[in-house]
Amino acid sequence: MSKKRIIAIDGPAASGKSTVAREAAKRLGCVYVDSGAFYRGVTWKMLQEGVNTKNPLAVLPVLLKSKWKFDVRDRAVVFSIDGVEPGEALRDKAVREAVSDVAAMPAVRAFVVAKLRKLKKLGSLAMEGRDIGSVVFPNTPYKFYLDANPEKRAERRHAELIARGETEEAQEVLESLKRRDEKDSSRKAAPLKVADGAYVIDTSEYDVDGVARVLLGRITELEKPRSDKMINPIWYRMTCKVFGICLKVLNKYTVYGIQNVPKTGGVIIASNHASYLDPPAVGASSRRMRMTHFMARDTLFRKKLMGAFLHKVGVIPLDREKGDLKAMKTAIHLLKDGACVALFPEGTRSEDGEFQKPKPGIGFLVAKGEAPVVPVYVHGSYEAWSKHSGGLKRNPVTVIYGKLITREEIRSLGSGREAYLLIGELIMERIAELKEKFEAGQITE
Ligand code: DC
Repeated sequence: MSKKRIIAIDGPAASGKSTVAREAAKRLGCVYVDSGAFYRGVTWKMLQEGVNTKNPLAVLPVLLKSKWKFDVRDRAVVFSIDGVEPGEALRDKAVREAVSDVAAMPAVRAFVVAKLRKLKKLGSLAMEGRDIGSVVFPNTPYKFYLDANPEKRAERRHAELIARGETEEAQEVLESLKRRDEKDSSRKAAPLKVADGAYVIDTSEYDVDGVARVLLGRITELEKPRSDKMINPIWYRMTCKVFGICLKVLNKYTVYGIQNVPKTGGVIIASNHASYLDPPAVGASSRRMRMTHFMARDTLFRKKLMGAFLHKVGVIPLDREKGDLKAMKTAIHLLKDGACVALFPEGTRSEDGEFQKPKPGIGFLVAKGEAPVVPVYVHGSYEAWSKHSGGLKRNPVTVIYGKLITREEIRSLGSGREAYLLIGELIMERIAELKEKFEAGQITE
C-alpha cells in the first residue's frame, strides 16, 4: 500500500497551483481538492439566495442551513449544495467578484476548513489553496508555496478567460489580480502567506511538467530516511544503558578500542555473529561513541511490541531471504548522510562459534555506502548464549573494536561483484586478527 500523504499547495491566484496540484495528484495517486472552489461554492450559494455577500450576519445563517455532499470524480473532489452541483457556475464573473469578501469572513473560513479537514478520510490528498499549509493541515510535511510574478500570472489567467469565451482585457485582468492579491494577503482571517516550512517554487519560468518535477523531487527528498528521524534518542540511550548493566552483572561485559570509531561521518561497524547477545553487546557500547542503526532480520519486526521497539531504536529491517534492496538503499542513504550503521557480515549466528563466510551483500553495501568500516570482534558470546545452549550463561563477554578499514583500502579492491566478495573477506580477516590478538593477550585498551 502506498504511503498516505497530504500535499498542501498554496499560492496567489494563477500561480499554477491547480494545474500542478492536479498533475501531482495524478502522478502520486492522490485525490485532488480545489479549496478555492469551496469558498466559491459558499459565494455561489449566497448569490443564489440573494444574500448580501458583504454582510457576515446575512451569510452565516444561510451557510449553516446548507447541506453539502461530497463525491470523488476523476480523482477530484466535487460537491453539491442542497442537492445542486454548482459546477462551472463557480467560475462565473459574479462569483469571482464577490468571493474575496466571503472568503475573508472568519465564520465562513471555519466552516470551510472543517469540511476540508474531513476529506482526509478519502486517503492521500493534493489540496490547493491559500492557507492549506498554514491553517488547514499545518502538520503535513508536504507544504508548497507556488508563486509567479503578477504579469506572468495575469497572462495565464487572461488566456484561461479567453479560452472560456470571456472578453476581459489583459490590463484589466492584471489589475483585478493585484486587487485580489492585496485582499487575500491583507485580510485578518488566514491571510495568504508562505506557511512555516513550505517549499517555495517560482513558477514564472517553468512549464507544468517542470514545476511538477520540482515538487515530486522535493517529496522524494523529504521521504529519504534520516537518522535523526529514525532513532528516538531517549529510547536508544535507555536501551543501551539497560543492556550495558545486564551484561556487566551477568557477563562481566568489557569493551576495548571504542576510540577507533570516528565520531562523525558515515561509518560501518561490522561484527562477528555467534549469539543473540551480539547486537546488545555491540549496541550497549555504542552509547559511549554514537547512536548506531543496526540491520536486523525483518521477521523480528513481526511481533507488534518488538517491532515498535526496534523502530524506536532505529533498527533497519532486512529480508534475509532475498537481496533486500530497500534495506540496502536505506542503509546506503544513512551512511551517505553521515550515520553509523552496524551489521553482521556473516548474516546469521554461527552454529559452532567458528567464523562463517561473509554474505555477498555486505561488500555491495560497503562499496556503495562509501564509508569506512570498523571491524569488531565479540568474544565469549557463543559460550554465553549459543544457538544450542538453550539460555543465557554467565560467561564473560568482551567487545573489541579494531582499527578502521579506510575508504581508500576498500576502493583499492576494485569494483563490481568480485570486489564485493573481497571486501567481505577483508572484513572477516580483520575480525579474525582481532580474535587472535585478544586471545594472545595483546588487547589492552
Ligand atoms: O483559488 P481561487 O481563485 O478559486 O480562490 C477563490 C477565493 O477563495 C480567493 O479569493 C481566495 C480564496 N481562498 C482562500 O481564502 N483560501 C483558500 N484556501 C482557497 C481560496
